[in-house]
Amino acid sequence: MTVLTLNNGVRIPQRGFGVFQVPPGDTQAAVEQALEIGYRHIDTAAAYNNEAGVGAAVRASGLPREELFVTTKLRNGEHGYESALTAYGETLQRLGLDYADLYLVHWPNPTVDLYVDSWRALERIYTDGRVRAIGVSNFLAEHLDRLAKETDVVPAVNQIELHPTYQQHELTELCAERSIAVTAYSPLGQGGDLGHPVPAAIADAHQVTPAQAILRWHLQRGHIVIPKSVNPERIRANFALDGFELTDDEVAAVTALDSGNRLGSDPRTFAISQIR
Ligand code: A2P
Repeated sequence: MTVLTLNNGVRIPQRGFGVFQVPPGDTQAAVEQALEIGYRHIDTAAAYNNEAGVGAAVRASGLPREELFVTTKLRNGEHGYESALTAYGETLQRLGLDYADLYLVHWPNPTVDLYVDSWRALERIYTDGRVRAIGVSNFLAEHLDRLAKETDVVPAVNQIELHPTYQQHELTELCAERSIAVTAYSPLGQGGDLGHPVPAAIADAHQVTPAQAILRWHLQRGHIVIPKSVNPERIRANFALDGFELTDDEVAAVTALDSGNRLGSDPRTFAISQIR
């Protein structure tokens, strides 16, 4: 399993299991299954209301904590220095863990304009040794620029919507220049990119599924991926990406599919408080 090294030296498994939209009641079982299959990186968020299920699965797995990588996120309604500090404590309680490996500001929420204060809180959590790495999610160039000007720690990760029909090239290049790793959320375009003929043809050529072809493309592009599935067979298949490799032409053919097809919210305006 490929492991990438973040800009602070912390190692992150390139393949993670995402639990966005996994119902709270199903989360423990899905994560237990993912851990059994071999996933060692789980991606949740306070806003998904399923951190408790993630933590329960981690504890039930019996795996040494240091072999696992758990990412979670600060929800929009908890922006601000003091709020973010409190929110992290509550997140750990819900997870039932002593620390998260990676804590992200979930959205910049620029209309509220507190993300710089929130980031300072994450810096404090990090320098206090309560989290192994800190990062952001849904941050555009303008938000990253402000953090660069006004704060000290460079985010380790920017987790953004990224799939064949929505690739955000300028943003990923900026992240690369600044040694910010990119995590692709909705890596399959919420399933919508799977029916495209290009990944289908690549899948045929390698005798894999279109999902595996797309996920392999992500890995070869250097993205961290967190595909979501509640289906046991698909959870397994989405992890089985080692036995084949896309040619340079195939990588280029998928890269050429970018069509600005954003499925999620616009980070410039997304401001739902995400409070329980
Ligand atoms: P399901 O949970 O029923 O498997 P993304 O990670 O881009 O958000 O995509 C998730 C969506 O794609 C979910 O609807 C999920 O449905 C579906 N999905 C995940 N893995 C696969 C796969 N290997 N083949 C087909 N659909 C998949």
